[in-house]
Amino acid sequence: MTIDTLTVKDFRNYAAQTVKFSPGLNVLSGANAQGKTNLLEAVYLCCVGRSPRTLKDKELIRWGHDGGRVLAEAKKRDGKTAVEVRLSRSENKRIAVNGLPISRIGELMGAVNCVFFSPDELKIVKESPSDRRRFMDTDICQMSKAYFYLLNRYNKILSQRNRLLKEGDGEALRSTLPVWDEQLAAAGAGIIVTRRKFIDKLKPLVKAEHSFLTGGEEGIEIEYEGLDGGDTSSAKASFLRVLEENRKRDIKHGFTNEGPHKDDFIVKLGGADLRSFGSQGQQRTAALSLKLAELEIFAGEIGEYPVLLLDDVLSELDLFRQGQLLERIQKAQTVLTCTHLDGMPSGAARFAVAGGAVSQFL
Ligand SMILES: Nc1ncnc2c1ncn2[C@@H]1O[C@H](COP(=O)(O)OP(=O)(O)O)[C@@H](O)[C@H]1O
Ligand SMILES: [Mg+2]
Repeated sequence: MTIDTLTVKDFRNYAAQTVKFSPGLNVLSGANAQGKTNLLEAVYLCCVGRSPRTLKDKELIRWGHDGGRVLAEAKKRDGKTAVEVRLSRSENKRIAVNGLPISRIGELMGAVNCVFFSPDELKIVKESPSDRRRFMDTDICQMSKAYFYLLNRYNKILSQRNRLLKEGDGEALRSTLPVWDEQLAAAGAGIIVTRRKFIDKLKPLVKAEHSFLTGGEEGIEIEYEGLDGGDTSSAKASFLRVLEENRKRDIKHGFTNEGPHKDDFIVKLGGADLRSFGSQGQQRTAALSLKLAELEIFAGEIGEYPVLLLDDVLSELDLFRQGQLLERIQKAQTVLTCTHLDGMPSGAARFAVAGGAVSQFL
């Protein structure tokens, strides 16, 4: 799929701007703080329904203005799709797909897909398990509305169970906790099984991407770390067992200690855990390999490549890896930001970004 046109109005530092992207590589260049990342953020907003940088939608509205708007017009295998996000200081954002307002964010999932990579995404490899869960969940949600709703349901049940653990008296705990356990395990089982399948698919792809980027160096391995679950009934049984085993501890702490909300995946390089041992360069290449593998997963699941958004990644790679990356991304429409155009393929569409205005080099 490709995004043909992106229109932003009173979005971040943009007053009004329309950009026509090429179906291949698009390079946005400019000095710092000119609005390059803001444009990628606008694309991401139309795909995922939120910013990759903030959970506060109001921060996206241009300072001094009451509302903003982003419109992405995409071409997909099965036709055209337009996603419009309207932001307002006084109300929640409103999203429309092909002109029809949607009532739940879940309905946006899959309308237009993207994979986003920025230096910040290094946290997938080096920071907390929650960053790796977000990586898995954001992807799977874009591919499956059902998973999006399942995750929401799980989180609701989890917070109700936690409230009971914190506030319930002995009688309430005795009578109601088993009910929440059953529901939590049922929803959690689906999450565990789906994530495990996702990681299994990702495994060989990450290896291949990493080997390509590095020219065959260093073997990378990933492994899901969490509750067992080959299928939903065994995952549910093992989750129920874990809830049972942790009951006293849960009551004492006033929250649910174990479950898919605590799961993680391990990233190993040459047998060592990259989360704690990798050099910056190794972690960066690993994170990029995960993102490139994501592209392939999308292509396999939905039959076409999503839009790839690469924010400031080239400057952080050595020349060999830069070259490999540029070769690798030819299959997907890519929007890439950088501070200078050295080494960019001559066929790329080039745009200059300055002070919230975009102009195309002809
Ligand atoms: N809500 C907003 N309204 C107006 N300007 C904003 C808003 N949010 C961020 N900015 C401005 O956007 C610029 C940063 O844009 P960004 O796309 O991150 O830059 P870069 O080109 O370095 O990627 C800064 O000048 C910042 O002050
Ligand atoms: Mg930037």
